[in-house]
Amino acid sequence: MRIGLLTGGGDCPGLNAAIRAVTRRAITAYDDQILGIRNGWDGLVEGNLEPISLYSVSGILPKGGTILGTSRHNPFKKQENVEKMLESLQKYEIDALIAIGGDDTLGVAYQLGKLGVKFVGIPKTIDNDVEGTDMSFGFDTAVSIATEAIDRLHSTAEAHHRVMILEVMGRYSGAIAVTAGIAGGADCILVPERPFSYDEVMKLLENRRRHGKLFSIVVVAEGAAPKDRDITAGKPVQVDEFGHRRLGGIGQMIKDELEEFTTMEVRVVALGPLQRGGSPTASDRLLATRFGVRAADMIHEGKFGHIVALKGAQIVDTPVEVAVNKHKTVSPEFLDLAQVFFG
Ligand code: F6P
Repeated sequence: MRIGLLTGGGDCPGLNAAIRAVTRRAITAYDDQILGIRNGWDGLVEGNLEPISLYSVSGILPKGGTILGTSRHNPFKKQENVEKMLESLQKYEIDALIAIGGDDTLGVAYQLGKLGVKFVGIPKTIDNDVEGTDMSFGFDTAVSIATEAIDRLHSTAEAHHRVMILEVMGRYSGAIAVTAGIAGGADCILVPERPFSYDEVMKLLENRRRHGKLFSIVVVAEGAAPKDRDITAGKPVQVDEFGHRRLGGIGQMIKDELEEFTTMEVRVVALGPLQRGGSPTASDRLLATRFGVRAADMIHEGKFGHIVALKGAQIVDTPVEVAVNKHKTVSPEFLDLAQVFFG
């Protein structure tokens, strides 16, 4: 078979491990031909494809980024782009696609599926917010990086008696914030799932001071918002082609508020793309490898319109509909566990 392979959306550690696993399995077990589609769906629109061989994937397992490149463009924004994608599929005689991405990339695959295109999806995201799988690769690496950042912030916060605010990614899900926050011993964790009150945060931090803890670590997911304030009021709202608002800056807003109403000295660190750059952890390499091998097998079993997923310790197939137009959020139980250690 001729399989088109692409990576779409924000990059994350483990993409190259997945590309390698798909290629190794498809060529050695099935004698398939793999065509790498450059820069996500853009490559299919532009006809920017090239063959991937066993040689091309040699040595990429531990590397960050994606050898195929990626983009955040939504081809369904323009009908002519949809037609161009279908033309490319015909021109390059592609029998099926393997799309590696988050809910946006999988959503485009789903729409192509409705037009008769055969595909299998592989979920990836550092945010771990793809519905239908317990875990996406990229998350473990991001959590490790954020936890190390919290550890490093602890010592300097303590030395200077400061409040350190660490802003991490997570538009709809506080998974990175909560998981790294618990692992790093944060004193306060703010997530999109539970709008917070500035007053309560101030009380919590002041209470720590009264008990002799002169420093604090606050971890905030970029999508967290106060319940008593509209932080978007009066600001131009920038949205991407999938309708997601551009975020960032909640850490600075909390700093401004704390410094205006308390005597605390505050510093903010926004981890930003550092969370998704560099080499994947062993756990992410393993998950990406298991996903990639299974995706190649699913193509040959005719399991089209499905994504690979992790359920408990097992790799399973899930209909793609489960993963599109929704986001997995952190369970109330896990948020309550984090709260045990607040203050
Ligand atoms: O892909 C999801 C995500 O990790 C979001 O949490 C975050 O808002 C976004 O990526 C940031 O991506 P970029 O830096 O590409 O705008």
